Amino acid sequence: MTIDLLLKNASLPDGRKGMDIACKDGKIAAIEPAIDAEAGTILDAAGQLVSPPFVDPHFHMDATLSLGNPRLNVSGTLLEGIALWGELKPRQTVDEIITRALRYCDLAVSMGIGAIRSHVDICDDALTGVTALLEVQKQVAPYLDLQLVAFPQDGVFRDPTAQSNLIRALDMGVDVVGGIPHFERTMAEGAASVTYLCELAAERGLQVDMHCDESDDPLSRHVETLAFETTRLGLQGRVAGSHLTSMHSMDNYYVSKLMALMAETELQVIPNPLINIMLQGRHDSYPKRRGQTRVPELKAAGLNIGFGSDCVMDPWYSLGTADMLDVASMGLHVAQMGSRADMAWCFDAVTENSAAIMGLEGYGLHKGCRADMVLLQADDPIEAIRLRATRLAVIRAGHLVAQTPPRVAWLDLPGRPREMNPAKITF
Ligand code: FE2
Repeated sequence: MTIDLLLKNASLPDGRKGMDIACKDGKIAAIEPAIDAEAGTILDAAGQLVSPPFVDPHFHMDATLSLGNPRLNVSGTLLEGIALWGELKPRQTVDEIITRALRYCDLAVSMGIGAIRSHVDICDDALTGVTALLEVQKQVAPYLDLQLVAFPQDGVFRDPTAQSNLIRALDMGVDVVGGIPHFERTMAEGAASVTYLCELAAERGLQVDMHCDESDDPLSRHVETLAFETTRLGLQGRVAGSHLTSMHSMDNYYVSKLMALMAETELQVIPNPLINIMLQGRHDSYPKRRGQTRVPELKAAGLNIGFGSDCVMDPWYSLGTADMLDVASMGLHVAQMGSRADMAWCFDAVTENSAAIMGLEGYGLHKGCRADMVLLQADDPIEAIRLRATRLAVIRAGHLVAQTPPRVAWLDLPGRPREMNPAKITF
């Protein structure tokens, strides 16, 4: 067999060691020990971890890399971020958004991300962000799966033209229906917006991904409505709730009922740990609530959970490096998921769980899957999270698309015997 690329001696996230992966015609042709074949490219994994690509199920690509434009978020709150975004929106052009988004996509690919679900604000009558990101989606398709969510940032009912803009965006080809019920004027309007948006998705055969109850309000009830409408409209497994931070503050008895409803309707859950540990609890003195949704309990209830990065250098968050291992690490810490099994699961939350949310076809390390993978400078998923491991090689459709040198330090320490210097430390 002549193959395009042969990856030798890989460790896999499921614990298998010493595996070879043969890639041909963009797919995994074989994954087994000691493959003997002619190959266009041979890459030695040297026993290090090979994973399917990272998947970011929640991002805002129309705002990314805009930090400081037109000014910084002084309070650091969600609401000032939304106000600041309102100032930036009318100023930015299609070309500016495309330039920033493409820069971000390059960064994301170099960090081993193979797919991103990005919300795109449709509360702009010119649909500047939609026009830009549809173009970006086309341009990056050979190396990055970009799924777009029509997101009425200012409220589908609260903003006077959001409904018609949303329909226009979907007609233009945006993939998923979004929403923000907790930002509508009243709880009743929020609930009505969930019904309206789920009905729209059902009519068009689309998925739903709603920013839902992203607040510290223990009485917010939009997750309940989202679960109810998902069941009523037969959308099971096709609906995601993003953030769900109010669940952190809800009454425990109520949450025990709510989680059963969510599990019954196979709601997908997308916490965004970096952003919500930064934004939640801002009205608290001390103790300050963490605000992350109840990840271990939702996991135990059988829900599929994928961690998202949400923002990188934009009005809401001034840091970020497209590092899904950083996202997994923060999710792990905030949820206090420190057991070996839980830490390994946090790696799944930025890979296969998020791929399932996006409905990615051919994702995974199995024969016949797309030959998309990342070689990490780590022995296993937990070490990858601990080290925010270097992405030594990123492979897309059997081709090497990005490489980063390994992280190595040379020490030449005073007082240490000469024969021990210089000492090489790898991480
Ligand atoms: Fe978001």
